[in-house]
Amino acid sequence: MKRIGILTGGGDAPGLNAVIRAAVKTAINEYKCEVFGIRNGYDGFLEEDGIVPLGMNEVRGILPRGGTILGAANRGNPYARKIIRDGQEVTIDVSDEIVKGMKRLNMDALLVLGGDGTLHSAHELYQKGVPIIGVPKTIDNDIGGTEVTFGFDTALNIATEALDRLHTTAESHHRAMVLELMGRDAGFIALQAGVSGGADVILIPEIPFKFESTMKKIRARAEKGSKFSILAVSEGAKPQGGGQVFSRKGDEMYVPRLGGIGQVVAEYIESQGFESRVTVLGHIQRGGTPTAFDRMLATRYGAAAVRLAARGGFDRMVAQRCGEITDLPLEEATAIPKRVQLDGDAVITARNIGISFGDE
Ligand code: F6P
Repeated sequence: MKRIGILTGGGDAPGLNAVIRAAVKTAINEYKCEVFGIRNGYDGFLEEDGIVPLGMNEVRGILPRGGTILGAANRGNPYARKIIRDGQEVTIDVSDEIVKGMKRLNMDALLVLGGDGTLHSAHELYQKGVPIIGVPKTIDNDIGGTEVTFGFDTALNIATEALDRLHTTAESHHRAMVLELMGRDAGFIALQAGVSGGADVILIPEIPFKFESTMKKIRARAEKGSKFSILAVSEGAKPQGGGQVFSRKGDEMYVPRLGGIGQVVAEYIESQGFESRVTVLGHIQRGGTPTAFDRMLATRYGAAAVRLAARGGFDRMVAQRCGEITDLPLEEATAIPKRVQLDGDAVITARNIGISFGDE
């Protein structure tokens, strides 16, 4: 193994730089290998100056930095890239350019740090001959093949702190405070932050809720003298018989943008005579420095991805299983996305301590 490339696809997550740093250090220290960074997801293969050498100097000091020094592209599906041609927007397949780029640069491996979408395209690129290794990333923690993705712990801590802060103002003003959190189709952030931050109601995509059940909890608390309530709501939560709430429609390039369920819930609470406010935590959950847990996990993934490349373990993803770093085929890792287990310990525990999921 002489040369490897690294790219960060999809939305960013705290810990991407820690993976890049660990991969570069491992490649240089252990394999005397050259490393190149591909800028802005797969786009770097198509752009002038899109590929940059990564040495010890380039990764110095990046461990605690959020974001990604390589840039990310959330619309970076190489099989459906939108461009303007003759004044018209058209979708093109640029996967052949990536294959050519890898050959031109004599790359022996490409480490792709991404979520579900990026890892799916990674598997397809392998089938076209690109020697790919996947590294799972997302604050949503919803990739099936691994126990945990880096970025999740940081987002969870930020969400928990937000709930702590909302508590004091909720109590002072006797209000129901709704915190809308990230989590498209998986409610791990809202569930774990909700339990850790003492929420009274947790609404997640996996458990469609009833507005009236949510109110039942708020009323019961008020009757016992607690005239404030805290609600942790995933952006992807939906009422029974209803759909998710979007702030922007999807198109060929972008997936639909979720947002607004917090406001819907808060308005219902107000319509029932309880004062309510909504906070949308948004990208604050993705920005800033990673926690120690995420730095450690990201570093282990980065080093393991390079060791896997050196063994020729392509079309595979590094993963954590039973606390140890291992690897599995990309196709298997992305086949079934991870969701909150309704009969799992975390949900049962939340119910045991009186948290409502708005379904009873
Ligand atoms: O998948 C991670 C995630 O943060 C989701 O929780 C959220 O719905 C989405 O990305 C937001 O994406 P964008 O940054 O493109 O708005």
